[in-house]
Formats: sequence, C-alpha cells, structure tokens
Amino acid sequence: MKRILTGDRTTGKLHLGHYVGSLQNRVRLQDEYDTFIILADIQALTTHFEQPELINNSIYDVAIDNLSVGLDPNKITMFLQSKVSAIAELTVFYSMLVSVNSLRHNPTIKTEAKQYGYDDLSYGFLGYPVSQTGDITFCNADLVPVGEDQLPHIEQARKIVRRFNNLYGRGQAIITEPEGLISNTPRLIGLDGNSKMGKSAGNAIYLSDTTQEVNAKIKSAVTDKNRISLRDKGNPDICTVSKYHEVFNYSEYQNICEMCRNAKIGCVACKKLLAKKINSILDPFRDKRTYYEEHKDEVRDIILDGSKRANIVGNETVEKVKRAMSIHIE
Ligand code: TRP
Repeated sequence: MKRILTGDRTTGKLHLGHYVGSLQNRVRLQDEYDTFIILADIQALTTHFEQPELINNSIYDVAIDNLSVGLDPNKITMFLQSKVSAIAELTVFYSMLVSVNSLRHNPTIKTEAKQYGYDDLSYGFLGYPVSQTGDITFCNADLVPVGEDQLPHIEQARKIVRRFNNLYGRGQAIITEPEGLISNTPRLIGLDGNSKMGKSAGNAIYLSDTTQEVNAKIKSAVTDKNRISLRDKGNPDICTVSKYHEVFNYSEYQNICEMCRNAKIGCVACKKLLAKKINSILDPFRDKRTYYEEHKDEVRDIILDGSKRANIVGNETVEKVKRAMSIHIE
C-alpha cells in the first residue's frame, strides 16, 4: 500500500478552509493509502513558541477535528510530531542540502513572515520547510494532500530528496520522492470577503462551531455592498456568500446566482440557504465530535499508539539514511 503523510500545526482549531483544502481528501483516500496524520506541535513552535499552552491545548482540538470529519482511527496512524525523534534527526541531515537563500525565496515563508510581522526571521522559522521534509519522508510518503499554500514546501522536499538520493544513494533511491495533491476546490475566502479564511483573521467558520454560531457568522458575511434593498439586482461575482454556495452548495449555485442577478432572492434568504447547507455538512461531524469529546482517553490512545508506530517506521528510515551517509562505526 502506498503512503500518505499530511497534517496540521497545533495552533488552534481547524476551519472549513482546512476541510475543503485538505481534510476532505484525507478522508477520501484513507482506504486506498496507508495514511499518516501528523499533529505538528514542533512546527507550531516556529511561530507560537511564546504560547506553549495554546500549542498543547490544540493537540486534542486538532486530533478531534480530524477524527470528527471521518478519519477512521482503525485505518490511519495519527501521531505527535514531538514524539518522533526520527523527524528531528532527518531535519539535521537534510539541513546540509538546502541553501539559506532558497528558503528565503520560498513564497510561503515570505507570505507568512509578512503576516506575522517578522523582519528578522528565526532560524527555526526559516528552516521549517526542511523539518517538514523530515515529516514527509520519515515514513517515505508517496503522496501529500495539502492546501495550495503548501506547494512550495512539497517542491522543497522533492529537491532535498533528489539531492540526498543522488549524493548518497549510489544509484538507488534511499528516500521516496513525495508528490503533492492539491484540492480541486477553489480556495475558501474569509467571511469578510477580503482574505483567505484564517484563524488569525477572525473570519472563519470552525468545524467545531455550533449551528447557532454558523447561522450568526453567515448572517454577518459580506455580500454585494451595492445591493441595499431587496429590489436591487445583486452581483454574485463580488459576494462572499455566493463563493460559499459554489463550494458547499454546487447543485444550486447557478440557480441562486441567477435569482440574485434578477432580484428574485434576497441576501437574508440566500444566507439562510447557505447556513442550512453548511450545517447539514457539519451535523454528522458534530455527532462524532461529541463522542470523542466524551472519550478523550480514547483520543489519547489513538495518538500514543500512532506515535509508537511512527517511531518504528521512522527509526528504520534513520538507520537506512545513516548507513547511506556512512554515519556509523564498524
Ligand atoms: N505546514 C502545514 C500547514 O501549515 C502543516 C504540516 C506540518 C504539514 N507538517 C506537514 C503538511 C507535513 C503536510 C505534510 O498546514
């Protein structure tokens, strides 16, 4: 069976953007692939090192988010990054094969540095794509389902792997070169219509939001600002709610746009339709979430068992890597 490795930083709850960007693909592919889900608590430190409690509390949040959308603990291996020392070891070896300049030019590093207001980057933050290569390769993942913002990191990982294999493989691939898998759903904008949905932007619908929270958030979503009364014709092209209909309510999307353009549906009704649709998607997740919230011990065991397996797999990889690099004594 081929392998998948993907996951999330433990810096807060996951939202609908994560769901359409990556989680949905994980759920779909878990039967076909041996799936590893990383709870990236070390990578979380690269930006949140001053908030260790937040990172720690988010471990359960992110684990339960993943389980609630339908990842099956009997099929997947969910593990905590900090428990797998192979990742840290591989990171050190790989760090020799990456230039500082190539990291500086990584578009996602640039965007995030701006977003967090960094002018002088920490070594750990600048180097997190190298550590992420450790995440991906400790289990020799074939496929990495991620949001499009992660593509530069996959490209970086592929480069490191190729370089490693060329240098140390003596014609053989020691490490598997991974491939990215990007969701074909358009990237979800925030409820404010301005930017991408994000934890920090305060414009997100969380997988853990209640029905009432979803209703209230959608009610306040930004629509076509020029449409003041019900009789005005609307322009769905500049309406956040219409973008959401496109993603979550595709079968009615064309029809709703048509009605909006002809002033046959008002924003209130249109938002209600969307809220209903999104709640109907979230309802089954809510049932699973309730179960796991009430069985935290089970979640703990899932993570600890997963980490054990990840360690076995990772130690094998490190042994192979060290042998290839002649890091041993006879
Ligand atoms: N950087 C990813 C994100 O911000 C999270 C992540 C950490 C990841 N390690 C990974 C994703 C390995 C895919 C593979 O979403």
